[in-house]
Order: sequence, then C-alpha cells, then structure tokens
Amino acid sequence: MIEDGLRIVGSAQTNRAMEAELVRIVKKALGRRPVAPKRDGTGQLAYPWDDAIAAVALTYHRTSTRVVRDLYASSARRLEPLYDELVADVAGDGRSWTEGLASISVEVRRVDEFAAGERQVVGTVKNAIVDGLARRGKRVRVDGERPDGLLVARLDDRGRMLVGLDLTKGTRTRRGWRTEAGEAPLREHVAAVMAMEARYDQRKDLVVDPMCGAGTIAIEAALAARGAPVAAGDRSPPLWPDARPVVIAGDRDLDVLVAARHNASRAGVDVIFHRGELTTLDRDHLWALAADAGAVPERGLVLCNPPWGERLEVADARLLYGALGDWWRSLRDFRAAFLVANAEFENAFGARWAIKKPLSSGPLRGYLFVYEP
Ligand SMILES: C[S@@+](CC[C@H](N)C(=O)[O-])C[C@H]1O[C@@H](n2cnc3c(N)ncnc32)[C@H](O)[C@@H]1O
Repeated sequence: MIEDGLRIVGSAQTNRAMEAELVRIVKKALGRRPVAPKRDGTGQLAYPWDDAIAAVALTYHRTSTRVVRDLYASSARRLEPLYDELVADVAGDGRSWTEGLASISVEVRRVDEFAAGERQVVGTVKNAIVDGLARRGKRVRVDGERPDGLLVARLDDRGRMLVGLDLTKGTRTRRGWRTEAGEAPLREHVAAVMAMEARYDQRKDLVVDPMCGAGTIAIEAALAARGAPVAAGDRSPPLWPDARPVVIAGDRDLDVLVAARHNASRAGVDVIFHRGELTTLDRDHLWALAADAGAVPERGLVLCNPPWGERLEVADARLLYGALGDWWRSLRDFRAAFLVANAEFENAFGARWAIKKPLSSGPLRGYLFVYEP
C-alpha cells in the first residue's frame, strides 16, 4: 500500500516537545500551523506528507533525531508476500522520491515481531525496492557505506511494516559543532528537548547552566533561540535572525570551559562563560553579566545536567544536589529544568517538581525535573 507520511522521530517521552517545536518553527517559516499529528509510541509523530513542512523540519527541527518520509505500508506477515506487495507498490509509484538517488541502503528497527530475522527483512526490502524501481526503468545500487538514500523499515503500532526514506540519513543528534566534549556530554537533541520542556522563551528568559561541561545545553539554547539550522555547516538563514539570547554557562573546571568556548565559537553563538563554583553565580551576578552584554531579561531559567554517575558517592550526591537546590531557591523567581540519573536528586534537591518524566541521553537513563518558582 502506498503511504505518504512525514514522520518525526526522537527519543522516548519527547512527543510533546517535538510537536511544540514543529508548531513554533513552521508558524515562523510558513505562517501556518501543522495539523495535529498521530502519536506513535512516545517518541514518534506521524503527519501527512507536506513538502514544505518536511523541508522546515529537516533544516530546523532540533528536538528530533530523524525526519522520515513514510512511503509504503504492508500488512504481510511473511517475507514472500512482503516482497510481492512492495515490488508492486514501488513499480506503480509515480512519486519522485528517487530523484538524484543512485544508491540505497536499508535499515530495520523494531521488527522483532515479524516472522523472520532482521537480516532477512533487510534483504527482502532491499530486493523489493531495487526490483520495483527496475520495473520503472530506474537502476539503483546497494551501498551499505555511503548510500544516497537510506530506507528504514519498521513495524508500526498497528503491526504494519512501514518503509520510509530517512531524509536525515541516520540520527542527527551530532550537529557538527561539538568537537570538544567534557566527560559526560549530553546528546544535543536532548538539550533541545530540555529547553522546549522548560518553555524557554528567548524574548524574556535569561538562561543559565551553572555546570555546563562541554556547553551543550547553553549552545543548543542559543541556537534554538535564533532558529538556526540544525547542521553546523548548513548555511540556511536563521528563523529569528534578530534574536539576542542571553545565555550564561559556568563550570568550575577550566579545561571543560575552554572546550565549551571553542564549541560555542564553532556553533557561531554568543554564550557568556563564567569560571567558578555554582554558588558564585548568584542572582546579582547573573543580572550584572546580562547587563554587561547589553540585555535586560524579564526572568530567568536554569537548564542543567549536573554530575550524576555511579561514581558519585551517595553522601557527595546529597551534598551536591542539596547545594543545587539551595542555589536555585536563592535565585528566587527562576524556573528550572534538570536532567539527572541519580536516585538521590529528587529528595536532596528539596522542592516539589512541576514535571518529572523519564528522559535518556545515550547511556544516561535519567529523569527530567522541571521546577516553577
Ligand atoms: C555531567 S557534566 C555536564 C555535561 C554537560 N551537560 C555537557 O553536555 O557537556 C557536569 C559538570 O558539572 C561541573 N561541576 C561539578 N560540580 C560543580 C560545582 N560545584 N560548581 C560548578 N561546576 C561543577 C563539572 O566540572 C562537570 O563539567
């Protein structure tokens, strides 16, 4: 069956952030709102295909990891009927998704419930696409290394095999500006999710990350504020070229701060860096740093991913998170979002959250906590 869908794929539990971000950038770029998506699990949004929205998502959508064009769906339960159905669909498909593609590769995800192994599904989908295109007189090679087009096959939540073209050609969590990373750098798209979940508004908020490491959160916030293209080398114009976000990033470790500064300059954003213990970034200091940069923000927002690993002893964790809670309370009216994977955080921080939801960044299986003053 021919499908025509736009699928925005991200981490589990990020549907709300991805949907809100798509509305924000599409309204700005195209002056209209996308229709409400269907949610497929907790980390996938399915929209009807729309060339213009797909182009905006591909260039500017920061909270997702992939943008996919769904092309074909099959309810076949075995390989032979899957092949037959796909070949027929591809052969009879008049759409131009193959334009400029001389080679393809196929990846599968979530096909455990299909009555064949992953490799067999890959082989069947690959053959069906190549053979179906050949019937239309279009020859494509299979190239597992550097394909022009990456096709993804997966079972959707109705058990159908969906085949789509991955427009991002694999995950794009690495933007290209972070060549220097601290000890536990956050995935860039997760930093973007934190900013969206905390409802960061660049027109009003001063953003501060007092434990910035490689600067991922600060840099992503500054890029999101300008509506900059996701890929570092993309020269598309920013959606909000006049935005002047005020973003302050601190860390007590000089080496990581130097790395963060280099990363910010590669990303092309202005971040105000501060070396020192968390407590040295008090409220007066934050407003003074903003004033030095010629800005008068209306309010403040803490976005932070504090140390979290198992190596952190329980007593140290309690002390650290307790100090973080005291510092946040001393800022009085700042909102805050923390991503942490340490069971001590919630109690030691000592405040009632407004949002608590699971959020992972690679090996970090953590929680996002959002606090309102
Ligand atoms: C988990 S890392 C942050 C990683 C960061 N989100 C990134 O993407 O690179 C935590 C950082 O907190 C810093 N840190 C730990 N305790 C601190 C304190 N009391 N004051 C300031 N920085 C601190 C560490 O030096 C480290 O760089």
